[in-house]
Formats: sequence, C-alpha cells, structure tokens
Amino acid sequence: VIAFFQPKSLRGRRVLVTAGPTFEAIDPVRGITNHSSGKMGFAIARAAREAGADVTLVAGPVHLPTPRGVRRLNVVSARDMLAACEPAAQSADVFIATAAVADWRPASASDQKIKKDGSGQTPQLSFVENPDILHAVAQSERAQRGDLFCVGFAAESHDLVAHAQAKRARKGVPLLVGNIGPAAFGQDDNQLLLVDEAGVHELPRASKLNLARQLVADIARRMAG
Ligand code: CTP
Ligand code: CA
Repeated sequence: VIAFFQPKSLRGRRVLVTAGPTFEAIDPVRGITNHSSGKMGFAIARAAREAGADVTLVAGPVHLPTPRGVRRLNVVSARDMLAACEPAAQSADVFIATAAVADWRPASASDQKIKKDGSGQTPQLSFVENPDILHAVAQSERAQRGDLFCVGFAAESHDLVAHAQAKRARKGVPLLVGNIGPAAFGQDDNQLLLVDEAGVHELPRASKLNLARQLVADIARRMAG
C-alpha cells in the first residue's frame, strides 16, 4: 500500500551494486573468505529497485534471495567481481560498492587438493593483493567525468570518522558510508555515517532496509542536485 505513494526517485537510472564477501581459492576444496552477510548490499539493491532504478547486483557467495526485479550476477573471487563490474559500470549511473572484497588471494591456487604428507609439515601459503574494484571504477573516465556516481563503504573497528574520511580520499569517491564492523556483520540492523566533501552525517540505528532506503533517497537527491 505504502509502495504506491513512494516517489520513484531513481526512475530511468542504472544502479550497480556489489555485495557479500569474495572467496579466494587455495585449492579445489578450500579457500579464504570473510563473514560479510551481504544483507546491506542486498537491501540497497532492493531499495534502488523500489526507487525505480534498473539494478544490477554483483554478489559474492551468499545465500540470500534476489530482490524482486533485480538482475543478479553471482561471482566467487575478487577478480570475477571486477570482471562482472567493469562492463556493467560502462552504462551505470551509480556504483555502490558494499562488498567485503578479500584484500589478498593465495599467490597460486593448487588445481589438486593439497594433501597432508604425514610429516606434520604445513603448507606455506603466500598471498598477492587483489584488484581494488571501487578504486578502479572510481578512476574510470565516466566516473571522472561525473557520469557515474561512486559510493564506497567502510566497516571499521575504531576511529570510524577518521578512517572513513581517509578512505573516501584514497578511493577518490564523492560519498563514503561508514559503519562500525564487524559488529554489523550478519545483523539485521546497522547505523551509518555518510562522509562527503562537506562533512559527516549520521543515519541513526535502524533496520538495514530502512537505512538502505534512506541512503538511496540521499543518493537520488545528490544526483538531482
Ligand atoms: N573495495 C573494493 N575492492 C577491494 C577492496 C575494497 O571494491 N579489493 C571496496 C569495498 O567494497 C568498499 C571500499 O572499497 O566499498 C572500502 O573497502 P575496505 O575493505 O574498507 O577498504 P580497503 O581499501 O580494502 O582498506 P582496509 O581493508 O585495509 O581498511
Ligand atoms: Ca579491505
């Protein structure tokens, strides 16, 4: 009933969202990942769709239902996520990076299961840095021209404001959304801090869907203004 009265603030806009963790293989049966639930990103995809946008959701491995009317691309690794985002970003108006992308992956994944050899020796893993998807998209020509509005997320355990401001500058994005994590991981509610050029604005604790709707409305206003 309420939906009927909602203004379609993103009608005609294309929104690209990343969500969930990535999974970086060690061998065919193991890998490294993190505890991101994907809930915030899925809520944002849903809210953007409700606001009338054409939404593509690039999701790492999570067991969440696809929001109605949203195009979902499932990926596993950070490199898969980048490969899915690059073409989609070419026609998007908004990019919202909520994914908890693994910062590193094993330097080489074994194509066979690594076996214990009975000697008690442990595998010596080395890591390489994954591509920074948000940074790459934010540096693209379309984003630099102002045709693609990029939004980053940051979960910090301490000094949220300082870290979020530094991250916003480092990523080169107009808007960085901070939350205190991993407290928010898997929870149904959250509390957000919107950091932009002008300063800091808090969205008080609420459900992730409620916050997603507020954030989407805020992004729509920024695009209209
Ligand atoms: N991000 C990304 N690709 C990566 C790492 C991060 O797209 N390889 C995005 C996240 O989706 C998020 C933002 O960048 O929107 C910040 O992620 P975060 O992990 O907080 O920042 P990092 O730059 O990885 O720094 P650190 O983890 O050391 O705090
Ligand atoms: Ca990181």
